[in-house]
Amino acid sequence: MASCIFDDDLKGKNEKLELERISNEADMSITSENFSKFLDEKHPLSFLREEFIFPLIKYNENADSSLVNVDEKCIYMCGNSLGLQPKRTVELSQQVLDMMAQDEILSGEKCYTKPDPDMMSQMAKIVGANVDEIAVMNGLTVNLHLLLVSFYRPTAKRHKILIESKAFPSDHYMAESQIQYHGFDPKTSLITLEPRPEEDTLRPEDIIDYIEKEGESIAVILFPGVQYYTGQLFDMESITNAGHAKGCWVGFDLAHAVGNVEIHLHNWNVDFAAWCTYKYLNSGPGCIAGAFVHEKHKNNNFPKFMGPYQGANSTVISDYEISSPCPLMMASVRASMEVFAKTTIKKLRNKSFFLTGLLKYLIQHFFPMSNKELNLPTVSIITPDNFQEHGAQLSLVFSVPLIEIHKEMTKRGVVCDVRKPNVIRIAPTPLYCTFHDVFRFVEVLRESFQAASSIIIRK
Ligand SMILES: Cc1ncc(COP(=O)(O)O)c(C=O)c1O
Repeated sequence: MASCIFDDDLKGKNEKLELERISNEADMSITSENFSKFLDEKHPLSFLREEFIFPLIKYNENADSSLVNVDEKCIYMCGNSLGLQPKRTVELSQQVLDMMAQDEILSGEKCYTKPDPDMMSQMAKIVGANVDEIAVMNGLTVNLHLLLVSFYRPTAKRHKILIESKAFPSDHYMAESQIQYHGFDPKTSLITLEPRPEEDTLRPEDIIDYIEKEGESIAVILFPGVQYYTGQLFDMESITNAGHAKGCWVGFDLAHAVGNVEIHLHNWNVDFAAWCTYKYLNSGPGCIAGAFVHEKHKNNNFPKFMGPYQGANSTVISDYEISSPCPLMMASVRASMEVFAKTTIKKLRNKSFFLTGLLKYLIQHFFPMSNKELNLPTVSIITPDNFQEHGAQLSLVFSVPLIEIHKEMTKRGVVCDVRKPNVIRIAPTPLYCTFHDVFRFVEVLRESFQAASSIIIRK
């Protein structure tokens, strides 16, 4: 067998067929525990797991020691919400604290109030931008507001903001408040694009059709890179092109895309973007966010809320940088970027193909839709099936009450989150999740269904 069993060129490939190919070559069943361990042994990125601190099951007060070994690491499937802490964060934060205590923070050899150049160039690689186009500053929603100060300049004819109907609530409120700030009415100026009836996700062609039809009244298109609820990955390049063809500015909220999928903001000609760093970038809750403005907007005369660089015209993004960033937060982002520097997004995405592919395979194997006719539980995946249309996350809908299943999984050491009304999001993050984690997760899911159904029947 070839030394690397994981094909590098996955264009047009199907996750299930690739896993079947590997399992045939290895003469193992895809559904076996040994197969998941074999994939971990063989995967060239498995070493990255050691870079992270895992929560131990015993710190979860709902864990049940009769069901699980509480001294073990959690099965952490929540990187889409909050990434794990890199070990390096502790060291780098301590260094900064020491420098602050010694009053060296402003005067030392390294100026810790300015972002580290290596950190910035790694961040630029992750979002596919030039270093001069990005900043690390504020929080995600604050950055979106600051960017809309420039890019949302409604007129009587072109006053709409196009978002999707399941946009993250804060994005929805942010867009609504921008519209109101300019004296327009969200009822007529905020367009929320809905999937077709009975469908969970937007069809890519419907997004483009809508922009082609209505684009002349749209000032700004603000879409996510990856949809937080369904896990759908949007074709950012096509949306940008369609928007530009109609004279709209196009920006992206990359919260669930950054560190998860390949992004080429500069080459796709995106106007602006913002992202948080606490999900797939693992910098810790509330940590400093990112922002991008395309170089073509340098020296434009758009309105801006200026800060220390007013009139300096140094880089396109410096016009948007207002307050000094916190050195401790930057230490967390530096730690994260050091881990990403050990690999590439392309390689991580490649691991995701197999990792999320295995999750999909096992779920479809153990909870097939044909169970419905037999009155057995089903799990449906509302995330688009095509690998080009999803990242690490799969969003699951159960045929039995979600909260009971979630409780049972938590007792057994799984960390994942419930999103109302009825979804559980599962994200095997390729930086630190293993194939064995995926196997264990599905095993726990099966046990949880069994346990929950007896509770539900008893009730
Ligand atoms: C898609 C999306 N947008 C915006 C936000 C809000 O980010 P913040 O509270 O950091 O501004 C989140 C937070 O999880 C998010 O998932």
